[in-house]
Amino acid sequence: MKRFLQRFLGAAALICLTQAAGAAPAFVGVTVCAKCHEAQAASWKGTAHAKAMESLKPGIKAEEKKKAKLDPAKDYTKDKDCVGCHTTGFGTRSGFALGMKAGGEMALETVGCESCHGAGSDYRDAHGEAEKKLKRASQSTPRKTLVAQGENFDYERACAACHLNYKGSTYKAAKAPFSPFTPGVDAKYKFDYKTAVSSKAMHEHYKLKGVYTGEPVPAVRAELQKNAKELPDE
Ligand code: HEC
Ligand code: HEC
Ligand code: HEC
Ligand code: HEC
Repeated sequence: MKRFLQRFLGAAALICLTQAAGAAPAFVGVTVCAKCHEAQAASWKGTAHAKAMESLKPGIKAEEKKKAKLDPAKDYTKDKDCVGCHTTGFGTRSGFALGMKAGGEMALETVGCESCHGAGSDYRDAHGEAEKKLKRASQSTPRKTLVAQGENFDYERACAACHLNYKGSTYKAAKAPFSPFTPGVDAKYKFDYKTAVSSKAMHEHYKLKGVYTGEPVPAVRAELQKNAKELPDE
């Protein structure tokens, strides 16, 4: 009996482990994040990232498409070689899927919060809990717990997957489908991370209250927080 139990418990533990390893965090969509981060969400709505699907529609940005040898009359909104970089989480189970209707709760048909911050199913509630802990017990939470929950702090890598993924790019992980808009088509498509991440193309930044502490602190944070706005009163 003891042997059996040992083996049984061993198998159960193994199943738990493989499930934990296999269960990648899921995309929850912009609306969930916006509930607590209203200010960033309102500002993000005005960015090109929030409207990236527009560019894939026929007749939109016709001159730019011609220059990149694309067909301006074609509908690219259901093209698997295009949507990967113009939506959130394409190619994963919880992400954008071909033919998905625009305007849904999750707004996956945009380059949404989770395209840069990581799929949020495991950290969305943790953010709220950590804030309560700070308010109740004046206790901050180690930021590394967020890494374990799938939150991304390597923004440069996230940007690169879309912005440096073209033929002839110095980005080592570049692979098809490539972006048609390369510096070869027009120098304005050259991507410089440092300039881009501090530009108006990003949502506005608001002062953090220190709910989280410790590494990993993104390299750009100090500068962006220095110029960040006060959050409007809740
Ligand atoms: C229940 C409310 C809530 C939800 C839902 C939520 N957050 Fe947060 N988030 C917070 C709070 C509170 C903080 C801590 C802010 C502070 O320190 O001032 C935070 C912190 C952050 C930070 C900064 C973390 C750091 O390094 O200090 C980012 C980035 C962020 N949230 C993005 C998101 C994204 C993306 C989503 C959606 C997937 C999301 N949040 C969902 C409440 C929430
Ligand atoms: C999921 C893919 C994806 C990710 C991740 C991504 N972008 Fe973009 N980005 C796009 C697309 C697509 C556009 C063009 C949107 C359009 O005009 O249709 C764009 C546009 C831009 C522009 C030009 C905006 C304008 O107003 O002309 C800048 C600058 C930019 N992104 C910076 C960044 C930075 C910095 C990061 C990382 C922190 C990043 N992007 C992450 C896909 C992405
Ligand atoms: C590997 C990622 C990626 C793929 C695949 C991709 N794009 Fe994009 N696309 C981008 C990025 C990044 C930008 C923003 C470039 C910038 O402004 O620097 C962009 C911008 C655009 C723009 C706006 C250009 C402008 O000057 O405003 C159009 C139109 C566009 N893409 C159409 C398409 C079409 C059509 C396809 C498929 C044939 C496609 N994209 C595939 C990443 C991608
Ligand atoms: C194109 C990439 C990108 C997208 C899309 C994006 N963010 Fe961010 N976000 C950043 C960067 C870069 C920072 C600044 C670095 C830092 O301090 O972590 C940041 C910072 C934050 C912070 C920290 C406080 C602040 O204001 O700087 C919060 C909270 C946040 N984002 C929430 C969101 C939410 C909510 C969405 C969607 C509505 C979103 N982000 C969409 C790139 C992005």
